[in-house]
Amino acid sequence: MSATTQTKGFSTRAIHFGYTPAEHQGALVPPIYTSATFAFPDVAYGARCFAGEEAGYFYTRIANPTLALLESRLASLEQGAGAVVFGSGMGAISATLWSMLEPGDEVLADMTLYGCTFAFMTHGLARFGVVIRHVDMTDPDAVAQAMSPKTRVVYFESPANPNMRLVDIDAVARIAHQGGAKVVVDNTYCTPYLQQPLLLGADVSVHSMTKYLGGHGDLTAGAAIFADAELALRVRLYGLKDMTGAVMSAQDAHLVMRGLKTLSLRMDRHCQNAQKVAELLQAHPATDVVHFPGLPTFAQHALAKRQMRQFGGMVAFELKGGLLAGICFMDALQLVTRAVSLGDAETLAQHPASMTHSTYTPEERQAHGISDGLVRLSIGLEDIEDILADITQALEQAQRMLAAGHDEAPAPPCVQMA
Ligand SMILES: Cc1ncc(COP(=O)(O)O)c(C=O)c1O
Repeated sequence: MSATTQTKGFSTRAIHFGYTPAEHQGALVPPIYTSATFAFPDVAYGARCFAGEEAGYFYTRIANPTLALLESRLASLEQGAGAVVFGSGMGAISATLWSMLEPGDEVLADMTLYGCTFAFMTHGLARFGVVIRHVDMTDPDAVAQAMSPKTRVVYFESPANPNMRLVDIDAVARIAHQGGAKVVVDNTYCTPYLQQPLLLGADVSVHSMTKYLGGHGDLTAGAAIFADAELALRVRLYGLKDMTGAVMSAQDAHLVMRGLKTLSLRMDRHCQNAQKVAELLQAHPATDVVHFPGLPTFAQHALAKRQMRQFGGMVAFELKGGLLAGICFMDALQLVTRAVSLGDAETLAQHPASMTHSTYTPEERQAHGISDGLVRLSIGLEDIEDILADITQALEQAQRMLAAGHDEAPAPPCVQMA
């Protein structure tokens, strides 16, 4: 059976799209093409491939049958005209932006971005004559005000890593298009299952597939999904082939396709567990503020209900006692693992200011709404009772340590002293 039509449901397409076993010796699981190069029957055929007149495969950095199957599946899941996969999420982001920008162009970016995306823009694109300007995109009017004739790309994450701010994709895309700019959304936190940026007007949706799409913490991969097939081709031929070479391995593409088969099941469970963790944190006297789109008190709860299928598996929060309390909490965790990354089966806790967002200076973090006391949780797939029990005991331990005085509390990480 092959479910190659777009009319099938999300999970059916995540499992079947683009593949017919009968065309591959009946193999239920698609073969993995590890070949770097592909034989030409004659010179003329090879020349036609290089001239773009023949659709055949000729070198894996440009295209490969295993990668192509994953690309067609991703395009189907997020209703794009095409997709390109990469060796990492940063590969996808950098190849896409290198292909869309020229010196003198301007990127309008949200205030809060994943640390390496911020660094890529500030220390990468800016060195080559691209102007980066940040604006608070939780307010579409502020985006309208900030647009200039040189703005080519409007870039944001929703929810943003790490503080969970949302951007109204439909409203911001309208404004960007009126000004002649394209919209790139990092959809890593949501995956195509929870949010479909292209249907809301975005031009490109980028993903770190290292996270939920792979889903098991055992690969690094990225993807860009495009509303426009021509832009997809440009990013493949310039951003991937010539500028970054950030090619993905066929084995990793196979693992991502294995992850996709359970994506909807896993996301349902991530979301259910995260909702319960957010509710526990919010009700606990040790916490100061909890950022989770599924809480009715979350400032953008109505927008979350409008543009997301469910509220996601990521929770951010601050404890009373700020940074020190957060460190005590993290060090007291026993089941929850202290690690960066997200979207794995394991529940992970990390401290953005000293880890994923240490690419910002302390002043930049303050200006960009990333407080030093923020703790980020990626809620996993363990039994919810066990996750809640571990978080509860760690909250109590943090309260005890703080009550006992700062002498017993650990030294703050170097970021505080930077
Ligand atoms: C929102 C977001 N985008 C992009 C990336 C970069 O992805 P990768 O680590 O696969 O390069 C990350 C990584 O943490 C991320 O959290």
